[in-house]
Amino acid sequence: MAVRSGRGPALPVAPQLAADRGARHRDATAEIYYDLDRGLPAESFGIPFGHVCAGVFLESLATVAAGYGWAVSESPRGDDLDFAAVDRRHLLAAVTLTPATATPVARERLAAFRRRRTSRRPYDRTPVEPGALDEAAAIAELSGHRFGHTGDRAMVERLIRINQETLFDDLRNDAVHAEILAWIRTSRRQAAATRDGLSAETLLLPGPLLGFAMRHRGLWQLPVIGAGFRWAYLNTMRGVRQLGWLTGPFATPLDHIEAGRCFMRIWIALTGQDVYLHPFGTVITNPRSHAAFVESAGLREDAGSMAWMLFRFGHSRRPPEAFRRELDAMVIADAPERS
Ligand SMILES: Cc1cc2nc3c(=O)[nH]c(=O)nc-3n(C[C@H](O)[C@H](O)[C@H](O)COP(=O)(O)O)c2cc1C
Repeated sequence: MAVRSGRGPALPVAPQLAADRGARHRDATAEIYYDLDRGLPAESFGIPFGHVCAGVFLESLATVAAGYGWAVSESPRGDDLDFAAVDRRHLLAAVTLTPATATPVARERLAAFRRRRTSRRPYDRTPVEPGALDEAAAIAELSGHRFGHTGDRAMVERLIRINQETLFDDLRNDAVHAEILAWIRTSRRQAAATRDGLSAETLLLPGPLLGFAMRHRGLWQLPVIGAGFRWAYLNTMRGVRQLGWLTGPFATPLDHIEAGRCFMRIWIALTGQDVYLHPFGTVITNPRSHAAFVESAGLREDAGSMAWMLFRFGHSRRPPEAFRRELDAMVIADAPERS
């Protein structure tokens, strides 16, 4: 994602600068682009999930802006991402910020947004407060989606097993394997330099082991070594007692953007209740795993509704933080001045 600002300073700093100066800036406009070199097109559903991530970004932007006293209005374009395009920037939306009141709720959501991070740690077996789950369900409903969840032990185990098998299955697909290899970051230094990708530290795996295992995917098929990898992966899932999923409209780019927004709202709300989550997005994007998930959870999909997200949630120790991209990597400097 990248931001090109129109009038006023570059968008992500606009609220900060305005607040720092103690002055109210006039409306600020910006264009939001998807950087096509940063997607995962090899996966089935790679394009829809590009838009889901765009929705995650737009909701994040609105959350941060609201916490600083700005309201965001958006006009998303809704055309498909073309990962083969020569121009690697795909215009997603134009956004306008207007001054608003930073309510206590908006400030709390901003604080939760800052705390939010994926926890791939073992969870501590304690159930999540029903009130937090009701809140997630209400948020989903407002977006036209449904939040389902289970604490059934056998189903939780089955779905965790499907998630683990997904990794093995994805590695057999040459295009997906090549994509994963391009994004793994096997040392903290490498992750700090690129500030992106799948870092061994956040995956809670020793870097050299991650690099070796990913480069030698044939080993995963061997009985003893394969079993060892399975064990190491499943070990990080200890203590998981609950899983959640989201179902609803998932047919058009605008549906996908709304889905991403809904997911981020739920993630922020759960963070506000000190609940961590870990998305199992690859279960959705791997066709075999997707079918197994839908069947195991007893879900029905049709033209108007798809099961588009699965995640584990619960309580854990604070996980390592993924590096955040720097501001200047997110803002396009060549903003044309408009009259
Ligand atoms: C739509 C979506 C799907 C995701 N799918 C997965 C997944 O399959 N496996 C995983 O480990 N993390 C998954 N994640 C989590 C991201 O990897 C994570 O959010 C990102 O690395 C940034 O780290 P943070 O959440 O700690 O800020 C997903 C996130 C999103 C938004």
